[in-house]
Amino acid sequence: MFVQLLCTVLVIVNICDDVSAAGRPRHIVFIVADDLGWNDVGFHNPDMITPNIDKLATEGLILNHSYVQPLCSPSRSAFMSGYYPFKTGLQHLVIVNYQPVCLPLNITILPQKLKQLGYATHIIGKWHTGFCSWNCTPTYRGFDSFFGYYNAQEDYYTHTTLDYLDFRNNTSPEKTDNGTYSTYRFADEAIGIIERHDKTRPLFLYLPFQAVHAPIEVPEKYEAMYPNVKTEGRRKYCGMVSALDDAIGNITKALTSSGLMEDTLILFTADNGGWITEHGNNYPLRGGKVTVYEGGTRAVAFMHGSGLQKTGTVFDGMIHAVDWLPTLTAAAGGTPVTDRDGINLWPSLSSASPSPRTEVVYNYDSHPFPEEGHAAIRMGDYKLIDGYPGLYPGWYKPEQVTSDLNITHISDWANKYQLFNLKDDPSERNDLSSSQPDMVKKLAARLAWYEKQAVPPNFPETPDPKSNPALYGNVWSPGWC
Ligand SMILES: *[C@@H]1O[C@H](CO)[C@@H](O)[C@H](O)[C@H]1NC(C)=O
Ligand SMILES: *[C@@H]1O[C@H](CO)[C@@H](O)[C@H](O)[C@H]1NC(C)=O
Ligand SMILES: *[C@@H]1O[C@H](CO)[C@@H](O)[C@H](O)[C@H]1NC(C)=O
Ligand SMILES: *[C@@H]1O[C@H](CO)[C@@H](O)[C@H](O)[C@H]1NC(C)=O
Ligand SMILES: *[C@@H]1O[C@H](CO)[C@@H](O)[C@H](O)[C@H]1NC(C)=O
Ligand SMILES: *[C@@H]1O[C@H](CO)[C@@H](O)[C@H](O)[C@H]1NC(C)=O
Repeated sequence: MFVQLLCTVLVIVNICDDVSAAGRPRHIVFIVADDLGWNDVGFHNPDMITPNIDKLATEGLILNHSYVQPLCSPSRSAFMSGYYPFKTGLQHLVIVNYQPVCLPLNITILPQKLKQLGYATHIIGKWHTGFCSWNCTPTYRGFDSFFGYYNAQEDYYTHTTLDYLDFRNNTSPEKTDNGTYSTYRFADEAIGIIERHDKTRPLFLYLPFQAVHAPIEVPEKYEAMYPNVKTEGRRKYCGMVSALDDAIGNITKALTSSGLMEDTLILFTADNGGWITEHGNNYPLRGGKVTVYEGGTRAVAFMHGSGLQKTGTVFDGMIHAVDWLPTLTAAAGGTPVTDRDGINLWPSLSSASPSPRTEVVYNYDSHPFPEEGHAAIRMGDYKLIDGYPGLYPGWYKPEQVTSDLNITHISDWANKYQLFNLKDDPSERNDLSSSQPDMVKKLAARLAWYEKQAVPPNFPETPDPKSNPALYGNVWSPGWC
């Protein structure tokens, strides 16, 4: 009570933003939507039916310049570690099931930080940060419990990928859920964690949903919400988004009925932009997943709840995925983390004041066969793309099916720069590289400074035969690296 009163008085000088009204660290729920496009939520596009997401976003703080990596494992590794993927070897594509690769084990990751602060730590959903050794897996890296997938692109009902089961409850294969749509299953599991949680301890719940990654699968009732969408794939995809929204509605209801909501800080973010060929949509932003254009890297994101002093507003400052480890550690009352690429933005976010971040690196990938964007940097309002920007470079409307593969000629892009002023031109339509050569030079020099700090991509091309699930009861399993 005393702490609460003191904080009410002191909030104005920003001293008590690291404890909740209850006087212990606040609960943190970190929700990730997979491959969700910029134009795929109601608060960006009125054709989308996402009332729960919209309510949380508009009652919270909409993060309008929140960047992620162009792809899944890189973004997740950044969320967990606070390092750019080009510092951890994860900058090329994603970790593939048969590669002996994981986020380096000498890094103390987010759940370990929060566990040190007394948090109960749980992950439900998609890990995709490496699983070849038990030491790489969530319950060996700071999570008290894990329910979900080690890898990617599972079937939503059978929970298999590349022909084998990839579903775990903690360390055990989960074989009894065949037929249950993962969005339902993950929501129920999250609700169970919330209902069983001992309220005297702070809770960290990391919820990287499978939705809305391909394959395009959804229970009929959600697809039926979009009778006006003519393209079957887009109609189902929209339904998948609404199923995710329903799950988030059910989870927030559980937080409220368990008495946790008032002390809970929610962070919601996509891991990358929508995948154009799988019906995700990023209009009016350019490109999508795998590109370093804004459509691949400017995430749908918001925060809601405990600690935010100004709500119902928009945070325009720059944020990058690497910032969440230092920022959430600070929101949890931990000592400031200063040894990462990420910056602690909690003082700015909690008071909705300008972000200290002035630049972001979208990627730097020296792999000879880039399928995603090679390299790009933003400094202030300017953005420089160095070389190949990634597959599908256009501007696509929601039901537009693209055949625009012009950009596959990777060699055409070598040593070619594109320069954009994102303040005037957020959709990257006007390449200024020939009219502003000095700006190109300035950003190229900064990018070169970052490139010197890069490690080579850790991307073994040959499948490791020891990964074969047939050796482990037909389940993707750790223990071979
Ligand atoms: C982890 O180990 C790698 C390889 O030895 C090293 O380059 C890196 O600096 C280490 N990182 C940390 C955070 O200790
Ligand atoms: C998961 O395993 C734990 C024991 O590790 C058990 O208590 C729990 O009931 C299991 N949950 C499910 C959904 O099977
Ligand atoms: C799941 O159930 C389907 C239909 O009954 C069956 O064909 C499939 O083999 C099952 N998959 C697994 C991984 O058990
Ligand atoms: C949300 O809860 C309602 C009511 O219990 C249920 O019908 C619905 O299937 C749930 N949705 C999800 C995605 O879990
Ligand atoms: C792709 O190539 C076709 C044929 O050369 C051309 O008409 C079209 O404008 C190109 N699209 C882009 C985005 O360059
Ligand atoms: C977010 O930024 C875009 C420009 O990229 C702007 O059009 C939009 O109004 C901003 N959104 C909000 C909610 O302020």
